[in-house]
Amino acid sequence: MDVNRIRKDFDVLSKEAGGKVPIYFDNACQTFRPRQVVDAMDEYYESFPACAGRSVHKLATEVSLRCDSVRTRVADFFGAESPTEISFMKNTTEGLNTVILGSGLRKGDEVVTTDYEHNSVHVPVLEAVKSLGVRHKVIKSSSDGTFDLDSFHSAMSKKVRLVAVCMTSNVTGYSLPAKEVADTAHAYGAKILFDAAQTAPSMKIDVRALRVDYLAASAHKMCGPSGVGMLYVRAELADRLRPLMFGGHGVTDTNYDSFELLPAPEKFETGLQNYSGIIGTGAAVQYLNNIGMDEIRAHEIGLNRKITQALMGVPGVSVVGPGDPNLRGGIYSFNVKGLSAHDVAMILDNSKNIMMRSGMHCCHPYFHALGCDGCARASVYIYNTEEEARVFAEAVSALANKFSKRP
Ligand SMILES: Cc1ncc(COP(=O)(O)O)c(C=O)c1O
Repeated sequence: MDVNRIRKDFDVLSKEAGGKVPIYFDNACQTFRPRQVVDAMDEYYESFPACAGRSVHKLATEVSLRCDSVRTRVADFFGAESPTEISFMKNTTEGLNTVILGSGLRKGDEVVTTDYEHNSVHVPVLEAVKSLGVRHKVIKSSSDGTFDLDSFHSAMSKKVRLVAVCMTSNVTGYSLPAKEVADTAHAYGAKILFDAAQTAPSMKIDVRALRVDYLAASAHKMCGPSGVGMLYVRAELADRLRPLMFGGHGVTDTNYDSFELLPAPEKFETGLQNYSGIIGTGAAVQYLNNIGMDEIRAHEIGLNRKITQALMGVPGVSVVGPGDPNLRGGIYSFNVKGLSAHDVAMILDNSKNIMMRSGMHCCHPYFHALGCDGCARASVYIYNTEEEARVFAEAVSALANKFSKRP
């Protein structure tokens, strides 16, 4: 993978912030967008800034065709059988809510999650507990931070209707054994919902090979624009899934006392859509495909290995999650003894222009269970370099030397 060539596609990487080019290690929150994505979005606003799926004129037809072709590209990206299995949402959260609250769960049904869910799974599940009367079972992770298949098996029964799990943790970077989890869920008659917000940017996902029922992801973590999410719903399940919103464009006909919904994906795409965002998402998916998902994954792990090796054994630095960098993708989450996570992030930003996320990363229950206030998280992506990894590791090591020895 030619990182130097890739970097040239991202204007922001040649711009100085605070006198230095940024070392952007906040990719698990949001990635930068290459020129190709920005150009595709500009083209919409400059050349055919109309609305899709409604008017019959030429500009509207152009938008419809472009959006249809992005749907096909996204379907191919995830290995879906048909483009109609892909609905555009505003983010992962909307997709997860649609499934958790709209898939017909009823009082007494059980939903199983991991103990490291993002609030975008955790909170809608708690809402389903409150408003629908479902029961929530949490699988405790193994002591090394990996998914515990034995606990999972013990949590399963015929009462479990939905297994809603984070495919790749945004805190630790750990990816669970997706095929085994999906097969186990199906063996008990449950459906599987994968939160793929952190998986889609870095790993090839094949929804058919994994026999996924539902999967949600966000474009802004995979070089695409903000404000676009993608929800995969297996064709046979679409009719029974209730949309979160109702209104224009999602219906075939309405009367004063009735309405008839269009089939998926239209019924999930009510109201005027984010056309430039959808078109930008198509360019982003193309951009990742051109690099290759296996290359992306290998690059992230390569950098993580360098960081982990450099910081292994440095007194006062502790990793959150499995020790083995091969299990953590592009994420290195850590704490420095004697400093809060926010202090670590602020000091590294101010002193070295290293930009990271700090805090509980929308996974409050996980940190409450660990008994700590959060962590700093460095997350790398396609444009990060070995030199940046080296500068980061050196800076963290220096911080630990300075602060962890204080009484
Ligand atoms: C694992 C995971 N799930 C869900 C989300 C929510 O994504 P969004 O804010 O795009 O809805 C995130 C965002 O960071 C995430 O990391």
